[in-house]
Amino acid sequence: MKVLVTGGLGFIGSHTVVELQNEGYEVVIIDDCSNSSEKVLDGITAITGKRPLFEKIDLKEKSKVEDFFKRHTDVQGVIHFAASKAVGESVEKPLLYYENNIGTLVYLLKELSRKSKSSFIFSSSCTVYGQADTMPITENAPVKAAESPYGNTKQMGEEIIRDTCKVTEGLNAIALRYFNPMGAHPSSEIGELPIGVPQNLVPFITQTGVGLREQLSVFGDDYPTSDGTCVRDYIYVVDLAKAHVVALQRLLGGKNKTNYEVFNVGTGKGSTVLEVIKSFEKVSGKKLNYKIVDRRPGDITSAYADTTLANEELGWKAQFTLDEAMKSAWDWEQKIRS
Ligand code: WQD
Repeated sequence: MKVLVTGGLGFIGSHTVVELQNEGYEVVIIDDCSNSSEKVLDGITAITGKRPLFEKIDLKEKSKVEDFFKRHTDVQGVIHFAASKAVGESVEKPLLYYENNIGTLVYLLKELSRKSKSSFIFSSSCTVYGQADTMPITENAPVKAAESPYGNTKQMGEEIIRDTCKVTEGLNAIALRYFNPMGAHPSSEIGELPIGVPQNLVPFITQTGVGLREQLSVFGDDYPTSDGTCVRDYIYVVDLAKAHVVALQRLLGGKNKTNYEVFNVGTGKGSTVLEVIKSFEKVSGKKLNYKIVDRRPGDITSAYADTTLANEELGWKAQFTLDEAMKSAWDWEQKIRS
């Protein structure tokens, strides 16, 4: 069965391609390599023993998307990762984000609407909840006004899919709201490759550990949490990748309850920034150089998932601990810097 993975050379996309191939799916990747490299194909091949099909296409080029679906009429499922994802950049360049993340989504849905049956998995984000009023966060928590154009593209993306499913027979979709993805494949063949200075906590920690950055700034220790630092739900990327496979299987097997569903994908456990640092120190045996600085504007205090719905409906649960995920991130960082 052929599955299209857009953004399949990226961080979460590449791990999902591995899990799909392990389950026997034939994968075709579309990626424009704007934030990834064709070398990722070698890593996927080394792990799975199979090289996925790959087409370098920019999904903003509508005619190329049309042409792709004419040539691959046997695509039965689409997992759509391709998107721009830097929150700060989205504030500077909103139209770039709306064009990249919304325009491309519309083109893909147009193609899928032409088919008699199709299954679509969308990369959404816990960012749609903003600072939720209660923890853990269930899928019923209200979607708050987006803090950035990036966050808005995830909210709008969900709405566009929901509205399209309502009127398109045969189109079934699931939006997965990720919490904080981290880690790398245990083989260290694929992992996260942030361009420039990492904005996210875990790659900043591992880059500091390996000596690429001098010091980690911890953004605020005066939040109302156990140790004063912010709480997030760090989900291991391999667990997250597997959630995509079971979500796709749910749609392909006709097990979905409605033709548009939403699931949180997290561990259900919140960790503070200082706990994440401790995990790094434990698995690496190194002391991390860090200092407490002012709060980062826009940060919320706390976000962790209620995963009951995904546990019960998808039969999926995160398997790996923070330490295991951190160990994989550290192994990967050391490998790519050696
Ligand atoms: C985690 C924690 C920081 C860096 C991001 C995206 C968001 C969504 C989820 C996709 C926070 C602290 C970080 C550093 C620090 N992604 N931190 N020093 O903020 O939860 O959100 O992932 O949809 O859109 O922005 O993740 O990794 O940036 O931060 O102290 O150098 O680490 O304050 O508490 P965040 P993050």
